[in-house]
Amino acid sequence: MKTEILRMLKETEGYISGQFLCEKFGVSRTAVWKVIRQLESEGYEIEAVRNRGYRLRMAGDVMTQEELASTINTRWAGRSLLYMDEVDSTNNLIKQLAEQGAGHGTLAVADAQTGGKGRRGRVWQSPHGVGIWMSLLTRPELLPEKASMMTLPAAMAVADAIRETTGLDSMIKWPNDIVVGGKKVCGILTEMSAEVGAINYVVTGIGINVNTEAFPDDIKDIATSLLIETGKRVRRSPIIAATMAAYERYYDLFMEHGDMTALMDDYNARLANRDRGVRVLAPEHEYTGTALGIDENGLLIVRTEDGEIRKVLSGEVSVRGIYGYV
Ligand code: BTN
Repeated sequence: MKTEILRMLKETEGYISGQFLCEKFGVSRTAVWKVIRQLESEGYEIEAVRNRGYRLRMAGDVMTQEELASTINTRWAGRSLLYMDEVDSTNNLIKQLAEQGAGHGTLAVADAQTGGKGRRGRVWQSPHGVGIWMSLLTRPELLPEKASMMTLPAAMAVADAIRETTGLDSMIKWPNDIVVGGKKVCGILTEMSAEVGAINYVVTGIGINVNTEAFPDDIKDIATSLLIETGKRVRRSPIIAATMAAYERYYDLFMEHGDMTALMDDYNARLANRDRGVRVLAPEHEYTGTALGIDENGLLIVRTEDGEIRKVLSGEVSVRGIYGYV
């Protein structure tokens, strides 16, 4: 009932009468009033006017199960939702749920992570109240070697969601960091469980720095947040909802071919490295060149300084801009 009332308050311009809510949910006026009080205590400003009813005046950066459920509007991505105030890692949580049979599209969101994981075994700082720490479960019918490519549509979805909700010019640093103003605002960690020839499930873990005010000295030149870039506090739930809506679209297009054929041009249009100098840090050797874009398998096409075309596989190497992070 709380999710429904919240959704109705958000979707209604004017007032919703208390009587209408009582009849709709078959409860007393006091029960409706209790829900309204609870919503107010979570950060919503609700106006109550005698003989007219309730109207949502303003929503703060509220993160609750009901806020997310009433904002996400998709067919499958994030429709089954688990919100937690604190967890070790949403990727770990989704893995546990997947092992217990959770369905395609299940989303876990946490306000804080005590053991947030980054790529290459790094720690991902995930404090309370300032970020989006979430993981989505998918069960694609794909060969296991294609799973790492699934981070690419996810990166597109986050870049779109940031652009749509904040107006910032967000781009992708191949393969899957989202950058704003040349600094990283989001990282994605994809993990999977597979057998020979078949994927059991894929976990796409997304970390977005939203309202972080400042970063430690060692990363302040490469990391940023939406607050730093916009100069304003940003609400997290609309970004989560926009990411789910965009991901659902991109995922379905990805699955049409089982690769990036249908998405390649759109991905390349968002690619911050495009036509820029990159240094490819391969295990045995290092070379520089110009990034030309990705191919249908998500490989980065690089023209080396002596004109040779090479294709770079994510996971094998790390790519750094010659003049900074991108
Ligand atoms: C990176 O190193 O760039 C990837 C960072 C991924 C962080 C996210 S936060 C939600 C999910 N849970 C984790 O433990 N990690 C990912």
